[in-house]
Amino acid sequence: MEAESYSRLSERYRLAVEGELRSIFESDGQAVYPALREAMFYSLESGGKRIRPCLVLAVCEMLGGSAEAALPVACGLEMIHTYSLIHDDLPCMDDDDMRRGRPSNHKVFGEAMATLAGDGLLSFAFETMLAAALKDRTGAVLRAVNEIAIRAGARGMVSGQAADMEYEGMKEQTEEMLGYIHRHKTADMLEAAVISGAYVAGADEAVIEKLRQYSVKMGLLFQITDDILDVTGDEKKMGKTLGKDAESGKLTYVGLLGLEDARKAAGKAASEALSALEGLENTGYLSETINKMLVRSN
Ligand code: IPE
Ligand code: IPE
Ligand code: MG
Ligand code: MG
Ligand code: MG
Repeated sequence: MEAESYSRLSERYRLAVEGELRSIFESDGQAVYPALREAMFYSLESGGKRIRPCLVLAVCEMLGGSAEAALPVACGLEMIHTYSLIHDDLPCMDDDDMRRGRPSNHKVFGEAMATLAGDGLLSFAFETMLAAALKDRTGAVLRAVNEIAIRAGARGMVSGQAADMEYEGMKEQTEEMLGYIHRHKTADMLEAAVISGAYVAGADEAVIEKLRQYSVKMGLLFQITDDILDVTGDEKKMGKTLGKDAESGKLTYVGLLGLEDARKAAGKAASEALSALEGLENTGYLSETINKMLVRSN
C-alpha cells in the first residue's frame, strides 16, 4: 500500500472515531457527574495515536464489513485503552506526570478523580459497545465485545499490568516473564482491536486464527519499540516522560537484552507478524502498520 493512501485511510478512521467519541459524550455523557465527565473527556480528547480503534475499522473494512458498524466497538476500545493509561500513570503505578503531551490526569484532577475517570471510561466503554450489540441481530458485535472483555480484563491486560508492577525492581528477571508481561499488558489490547474488527465483519475461524498470530506479534513489536523509545525517544514527540523504565527497574527488552538485541527482537517480531498475513487478501493496511511501527518515533 502506498504510504499516502495509508495515511489518508488512517486519517479517515481517526476522524470517524474522534467524531463519534465526541457525540457519545454529548449525548449519553451528559448524564455523567460534571467533574467526572471533564476528567474522563480530558484524557480521551487529548490525542494519542488511535492505533487500536483505527485497526478495528481497518480490519472490518478489509474483510468486507462496514466501518460504521464497527465504530461503537472502536470507540469502546479507545475508552478502555485511555482508562488503562490514566491508571498506569497514577503515583501508585508508574507515577508519570505527562501523557499525550499534557499533564497526566491525576496531575490535573487529583488521584481520586483520576481513578474514578478510569473506572468511568471502562464501564462507559461496555455500555457503548453493548448498546450496539443489542441492536445487532447477527451476534457479530456481541462476539467482538466478548473478545474485548477477555483481552482487556483480568486474564488479559490487567494481568500484564499486575505482572509489570510485581516485577518492577526484582532481581530475578527472565525473558519468559518479560514475554508474559508484554503479551498481556500490550499485545492483548492490539489483539482485541484486530479480532473485534474481524468479528464485526463476520470473519471465519481460519481468518481469525491468522489474524491472532499477526496481532500478537504486532503487540510484541509495539511494546519492544515502546521500551526502546523510553531510552532513545524524543519526549516532545512521545508526549510522555521518558527514561523512567531504567530508573524504576522495569522489566523491559532494553533492560534485559540491551538496545541492539532489543532492536533485533523488534525486527523478528515484525517479520513474524508479516508472515502471519500470508494467505490473507487485501492486507496492505496491516502490513504497512507493521512497517511503520518498526520505525516509529512516537
Ligand atoms: C501506550 O500506548 C501504552 C503502551 C501500550 C505502550 P500508545 O503508545 O498507543 O498510546 P497513545 O494512545 O498513542 O497515547
Ligand atoms: C503500559 O505500558 C501498558 C498499559 C497502559 C496497559 P507502559 O507503562 O510501558 O506504557 P507507557 O510507557 O507509560 O506509555
Ligand atoms: Mg506501565
Ligand atoms: Mg507507564
Ligand atoms: Mg513504556
